[in-house]
Amino acid sequence: MSAKVTKALAHAAQNLGATLDALRELAKIPSVSAEPPPNAELARSAAEVAAWMKRIGLERVEVLEVPGAHPYVYGEWLHAQGAPTLLLYAHHDVQPPGRPTHWKTPAFEPTERDGRLYGRGVVDDKAGAAIHFAAIDAYLQQGGLPVNVKLVIDGEEEIGSEHLGEFLATYRERLSADCIVLTDTANLAAGLPSVTYALRGIVIVDVEVAGLDHPLHSGMWGGPIPDPVMAMCKLLAGLVDEHGKLAIPGICDRVRPLTPSDRERLARLPYEEAAFRKDAGLLDGVAIAGEPGFNTYELNWHRPSLTISALEAAPMKGASNQIVNSARARIGVRTVPDMDGREVAALLSRHLETSAPWGMRVTAKVHSVGGWWSTTPGGPAFEACERALKSGFGVDSVYIGCGGSIPFVEPFARVLGGVPALLVGLEDPICNAHSENESLLLSDFDKAIKSAIHLYDELSRLPRG
Ligand code: BES
Ligand code: MN
Ligand code: MN
Repeated sequence: MSAKVTKALAHAAQNLGATLDALRELAKIPSVSAEPPPNAELARSAAEVAAWMKRIGLERVEVLEVPGAHPYVYGEWLHAQGAPTLLLYAHHDVQPPGRPTHWKTPAFEPTERDGRLYGRGVVDDKAGAAIHFAAIDAYLQQGGLPVNVKLVIDGEEEIGSEHLGEFLATYRERLSADCIVLTDTANLAAGLPSVTYALRGIVIVDVEVAGLDHPLHSGMWGGPIPDPVMAMCKLLAGLVDEHGKLAIPGICDRVRPLTPSDRERLARLPYEEAAFRKDAGLLDGVAIAGEPGFNTYELNWHRPSLTISALEAAPMKGASNQIVNSARARIGVRTVPDMDGREVAALLSRHLETSAPWGMRVTAKVHSVGGWWSTTPGGPAFEACERALKSGFGVDSVYIGCGGSIPFVEPFARVLGGVPALLVGLEDPICNAHSENESLLLSDFDKAIKSAIHLYDELSRLPRG
């Protein structure tokens, strides 16, 4: 290990308390991107991210504005002459906090308990940004980094990075890099460093089923008048078969089956059904779903899935004996290679609009389409990453897929000419990202910072071009 790496590691260890303080400050800001721009909290969080970047000595720190988008934050340090350039990505926006009564401590008052830091956005993805900052700081305190770095901290990831196209078109020339490092993915288990080689895409469609122009007394009219809410339920129930497998005609035609060697690789990953059930919080007696014959990881990472993420008709509070006139639902389809998101959106919309019982009036509206991404891990960048994770975590890393989506990755890797993208992160099975009581495992946070320090050093020897 070089003297510089040793010193950087020592600095990061000494500075861990200050890094955590800064993370806590950032996590106090409710940067919920679902609240449309202009949004003062996103502006505050962008400003706080920019201040952190300036404090550690990053240069050309700017809040990058794209009309109609939440602020992205940029910073760079480009004085490692002749060395490769890394594009480092994380996001500072967060999901809505959910039900306040279900948080043990308030969502935006980050609180430490039993080695974990609790709060909305702590692990998804403010810690992701903090990892980059802590590792950069550790080097800049020793006089410089072994690589050039450009940072993009997204402000709209949790709403699908909707303005990514314009962002890339506007800022393309300053973003060229030899390798992308994203800190926004999962670890298969706590303490087990994992490199993500595949992300699913996501297609979101909103549907409304309407049958009446106003609600009716269910006794006066029930029988001859069909129930629009029941029609919605039947429509939704028909989207999957009894196993939960998608049943929309044509939608799975392009799904590329895994090769036998891919399947063998998945079968070798650690998996325990009891732990899987417990981590998910699956109640006793509730079955694990999915098309028979597929391993759990294959179902989660490499097969499409469908979720109803919102459903509304009439609230329980104030319910009366009514035939409710209409119902609305949000449907999310996770897509995999070689599905075409736009085609999926069109097939799903058409199916919805033509399949409701009793001639109910159905309108389907495509909310968003984000693409899947996958890579074949191998070559010097991935080997460097394996070594760095081993140094930081003290155990061998594993390669995993991801059931979730990061819309930034596919277009970005493409625009940068297919440079390697290293996806790492801290979302462990019990982190509760997107749910209440989201948390960050602090011991892994420390290990991730160490790994990042090793990674910059390892990647400084990456052949360029
Ligand atoms: N960090 C997640 C992606 C992720 C999901 C990593 C699961 C590891 C495991 C990211 O912030 C996210 O939630 N993405 C959204 C994207 C959507 C809004 C387009 C998702 O997957 O729902
Ligand atoms: Mn995230
Ligand atoms: Mn997220």
